[in-house]
Amino acid sequence: MAGGSAEAGIAVQPADIREVVVVGLGTMGAGIAEILARSGRSVVVVEANGNALARGLATLHASLDKAVARGRLTHADKARIIARIRAADSLAGGAAAADLVIEAVAESAELKRAVFAELDLACRPGTILATNTSSLSVTALAAGTRHPDRVAGLHFFNPAPVMKLVEVVSTVLTAPGTTETLAGLVRALGKTPVQVGDRAGFVVNPLLLAYLNHAVRLLDAGYATGGDIDKAATSGVGLPMGPLALLDLIGLDTSLSILEALKAEFGGSRFTPAPLLRRLAEAGLTGRKAGRGFYEYQHQSVHAARADDPVDHLASQPPSLVLLIEDGPADLTSAITAAGIGVVRPPAAEADLILVAASPARSVLDAALACPSPADAVGIHLVGPHGARPALAELVITHLTKASAVAAAVALAAKLGLDSVTTRDRPGFLTAAMTYPHLNDAAAMVQDGYASAADIDTAMMLGCGYPRGPLEMLDDIGPAVVAGVLSAMHASCGDPAFVPAPLLVEHAAAGTRFR
Ligand code: CAA
Repeated sequence: MAGGSAEAGIAVQPADIREVVVVGLGTMGAGIAEILARSGRSVVVVEANGNALARGLATLHASLDKAVARGRLTHADKARIIARIRAADSLAGGAAAADLVIEAVAESAELKRAVFAELDLACRPGTILATNTSSLSVTALAAGTRHPDRVAGLHFFNPAPVMKLVEVVSTVLTAPGTTETLAGLVRALGKTPVQVGDRAGFVVNPLLLAYLNHAVRLLDAGYATGGDIDKAATSGVGLPMGPLALLDLIGLDTSLSILEALKAEFGGSRFTPAPLLRRLAEAGLTGRKAGRGFYEYQHQSVHAARADDPVDHLASQPPSLVLLIEDGPADLTSAITAAGIGVVRPPAAEADLILVAASPARSVLDAALACPSPADAVGIHLVGPHGARPALAELVITHLTKASAVAAAVALAAKLGLDSVTTRDRPGFLTAAMTYPHLNDAAAMVQDGYASAADIDTAMMLGCGYPRGPLEMLDDIGPAVVAGVLSAMHASCGDPAFVPAPLLVEHAAAGTRFR
């Protein structure tokens, strides 16, 4: 470590970390190597498998080419970055001079243990050993080495060159100086460190993977099509990607391994892998890297695979006259009349479409059954990111609703300038059913004392591109509203995972906020 201290307790300046070894050149390893080489450091990438090395280097080149195409780098910059990267096929050949090693091999405890045992022999005593594990025990890896005080987690997010968060994970054996050095390095790389203790998945993954897993269950249970599930997340919540597209990006195999590790540590149904996720992974349909997961990827374009929406094939004219029944908070009358469509109220009976302005804590069926023709009734619930005009109409169908009524409602939403999703008449409809349990998990994490509300929000914004953190979202929706929908979900299916966290209930009762 040029100029650096070998004392365990004393932090080394980021500038003194000049040579870094990255072990494993999968998607994450390639991204991490790119960031380090961009920062001017020498990088040795160690990848024993020739094909994996070629794929990893191709990923790295493609990422730099993208930056060149967007005018973020010149061709000369790219050449300088590439010149800083050297490939080695074994640790013995690469790790001896390293100031820092970042292990980024596949998410297997056995494989990572073997890599750490080799690193322990190949590296100088002062070398810091970091793992990019997303869910395995950093402590167990550290305990197997001769210098566990210099072992820590350094967890990047995909795509690593873009996402700003790095979780810096300390074990009970990590020297404070090691954590400080890594946090300093993360800042020097232009990213934000969040310092956390060693618990499976750290801050982001227990929250993210439970939410992604739940979205797969909703798909499998026929709540909505895959395309609509993703649309609810992007258009309804303002997230950068829908959960199924994000699973394809992370990799279904990786997601499955993370869920299994979370399940082993915490138990509970939120981490029990959805059968469909497991089957797709078993079938080798692991997402983008395989060319197919929930979607198909051909020549960079996305084709819906499991996201076919039968309603798309039922193109319909918008209705001329709507019978509007208000059973929820939205006043839709002005929006519908502004679009040139007539609105009548009960007891009028004649209309082309019956719309029930619905509330996610109540069933549409009750209101539909009170209508002259329940099969013509469609629930409508408008959602959108806080503070923005609603962008999405959730169209709620009961088991009685006719396909022609759904098609008319879809056409009406389009005429109002709204995206629409079709969903079942279950508590929470689609957007709340998918996201309120996620907000509840974040509340439970604050309650457990693992991370502060502010750190959780920062982590989800910088690690997953959320426009606002989950606790800020929860505050804006209102703890009482979120707790009410969760209780209705729990009452409907009995899954204890939906019971509102005690801290959420307390905020709901007191009318107070998390942030
Ligand atoms: N590699 C390198 N750069 C990339 C990239 C990639 N794979 N994908 C996108 N980029 C760059 C683009 O070049 C562009 O750069 P500039 O702004 O400098 O021009 C920038 O990212 C934005 O790209 P696009 O405009 O093409 O795309 P976008 O606006 O749709 O953003 C996204 C793409 C950044 C991926 C965004 O959709 C997003 O934030 N998604 C959420 C991703 C997420 O949640 N990641 C965490 C997953 S969990 C995890 O990784 C942890 C784990 O352990 C599983």
